[in-house]
Amino acid sequence: MDLISIRDVDKKTIEEILDLAEKKEKVLKPHDLKKTNRVLATLFFEPSTRTKLSFQTAAVRDGLDYIDFLTETSSVKKGESFIDTIKTVMGYSDVLVVRHPKEGSARLAAAVSDKPVVNGGDGGNQHPTQTLIDLYTIRKYKGKIAGLNVTLMGDLKHARTMHSLVYALGMFGAHVTLMSPKGLEMSKETVEEVKKKFNAKVEVKTEFDVSNADVLYVCRIQAERFADPLEAKRVQEQFYISMDNLKGAKNDLIIMHPLPKVNEIAPEIDNSKYAKYFEQAHNGVPVRMAVIDYVLSH
Ligand code: NCD
Repeated sequence: MDLISIRDVDKKTIEEILDLAEKKEKVLKPHDLKKTNRVLATLFFEPSTRTKLSFQTAAVRDGLDYIDFLTETSSVKKGESFIDTIKTVMGYSDVLVVRHPKEGSARLAAAVSDKPVVNGGDGGNQHPTQTLIDLYTIRKYKGKIAGLNVTLMGDLKHARTMHSLVYALGMFGAHVTLMSPKGLEMSKETVEEVKKKFNAKVEVKTEFDVSNADVLYVCRIQAERFADPLEAKRVQEQFYISMDNLKGAKNDLIIMHPLPKVNEIAPEIDNSKYAKYFEQAHNGVPVRMAVIDYVLSH
């Protein structure tokens, strides 16, 4: 199977992957890892730290090898098309992870590839494996997803992490609150889709308020998707969460972030009981091990 959008997978599939990830986490010990010669290819046409490295680590931990396509030193520099690149690399590997700035590119790759394609992020559209990590992390800390109050905060207009996550939270019955700087609201279509499809509770707040939140999920201003870089800088400067802002928050609030964070979270929050974003990043390995295993066998 391919994994391109969170809309491609139903609740049962998600739960199977999360359960598999739990098993993967248990066997993340070197003596349990056996070597095979399957190959994962990472093709990232946009910068990445966590997605690429955790996919590569997941591959190695699960007995696969990986090959890494680097745009700068590839034949893309000679003018080779995206489709030709995919058609070539699918002959070298068993599963492809693709990140690209253009929305729809992973879907296109899946259409031309004989091998499973996993979307590592296509423009502002979708980032389904990040969402699986997010659900896994919430389930790990809270024991459930249904009925939790989850506040999504940041650039809800451009962030693919948020577009995938809001859909999955709706599917799992969480109550979602959206908080964004003015002009960076989530599109009405996305909100309506989640409400209609899952009868989900989605609320919009214009003032910062996390008094009711079980999970605060923050993302950075997606400066690379702004037409005007100065506007991105202006919004970024206004958008900052300090320990002071968390007065009145629930004692067991967890703060999550897909990372990278730029300047939206005060450094003292990193060392507080609330911050779970580095654990969340680490969960990328077992969850992506599960994704690789799952797409290769379905
Ligand atoms: C995110 C992305 O690339 O969309 N990063 C990630 O994969 N963890 C988040 C971001 O860039 O803001």
